[in-house]
Amino acid sequence: MSDRKPYVGGNWKMNTNRTTSADLSRGLVDSLRTVSNVDIAVFPPFPYLLSVRSILRDRGSAIKLGAQDVYFKPDGAFTGEVSIEMLKDCGVQVVLCGHSERRHVLGESDEMVNQKARAALEGGLEVILCVGETLGQRESGHTDPVNQRQLRAGLAEVPGDFMSRVTVAYEPVWAIGTGKTATPQDAQDVHAKIRKLLGNLYNRDIADRTRIIYGGSLKASNAAELVDQPDVDGGLVGGASLKIADFVPIVQAAQAKR
Ligand code: PGA
Repeated sequence: MSDRKPYVGGNWKMNTNRTTSADLSRGLVDSLRTVSNVDIAVFPPFPYLLSVRSILRDRGSAIKLGAQDVYFKPDGAFTGEVSIEMLKDCGVQVVLCGHSERRHVLGESDEMVNQKARAALEGGLEVILCVGETLGQRESGHTDPVNQRQLRAGLAEVPGDFMSRVTVAYEPVWAIGTGKTATPQDAQDVHAKIRKLLGNLYNRDIADRTRIIYGGSLKASNAAELVDQPDVDGGLVGGASLKIADFVPIVQAAQAKR
């Protein structure tokens, strides 16, 4: 096993309401209280950040509070957007950048993903930088070039000093919310290539320390075989993060990583 502490994030996406986000938070805190040696984060929708934060804080939980997105400008006329300082004011510690739904549904470019990641890191937040190929890109043999382009662009001008606050999430777009999962070997191959590129962009030490987590239809039944791969350091979980009974076993699989 590597020295990298496993990391599991629950991306609630545009789900839950005031009641269910609170119930889910309380349930997670209680069920995960005894889990150690895994970093855990939840990413509720913006309107529920403060109430989820209160629950995590009041119960002394180590679960990190995450945001699903952020804008890179500090303030001003950007209707609908949320700044880094606003997130910090609400107790947010970590933010997702470049999630495939932001890239492919909302049209975010590599450049905007990079602006967001840089601003979040400069603001002192942790970043989970998501990369991943579409089905068409995979079928036409472009998996590696796409992931490399997204990684290079996402980390452009991010200094090595910031890399201790960066986690990379490999999320093949064809596996997100589809029930299709990359095989453990497919995931391992891509993760190893991402780590190699981190070594080229920075150095061997940074590559060895950076966590690379897998996302895409991760569930209790497939988590162990994926997170046991040497270069898979945990997971970013969508659908299965909305139910305690589905999410907790994924965290436990990460805890048991060999
Ligand atoms: P999924 O989503 O687990 O529902 O496939 C993963 C993600 O988008 O982070």
